Amino acid sequence: ALERTFSIVKPDAVAKNHIGAIYHRFESAGLRIVAAKMLHLSREQAEGFYGEHKERPFFNALVSFMTSGPVMVQVLEGEDAVRKNREIMGATNPKDAAAGTLRGDYAASIDENAVHGSDAAASAAREIAFFFTDAELCARTR
Ligand code: CMP
Repeated sequence: ALERTFSIVKPDAVAKNHIGAIYHRFESAGLRIVAAKMLHLSREQAEGFYGEHKERPFFNALVSFMTSGPVMVQVLEGEDAVRKNREIMGATNPKDAAAGTLRGDYAASIDENAVHGSDAAASAAREIAFFFTDAELCARTR
């Protein structure tokens, strides 16, 4: 089914100038960018976005990293977008990520792992709404 998913190009990948290469992977796989912006997340935004991980031992490191520099946040639309984006990203830990996936090619560690992508349709809806209003999601007109 035609779906939307939420994606972040994380501070490590922005700093390494990989925004375009990562967007190219999305587009080559048939995912369309229907909303996008660059943001430098506040601590409050990062803590709110990753709220489900609050009790995890890596939470403070995650929030520090995600606020360490600008990110790109985007909404991707396409057939089976949630699963397709996760396939493009590869495993969370770059040690387990295949070559040719975003994490395999661009991530340095499980903390600095280049991209985030929603893990299910329900989290996609929540994550999209966290960063974008409905009016910011651009419908195709041609
Ligand atoms: P992300 O998809 O952005 O969601 C939470 C992030 O926490 C994850 O990617 C990783 O970058 C980071 N993280 C650090 N340690 C772990 C861990 N042990 N398990 C899962 N995620 C981790």
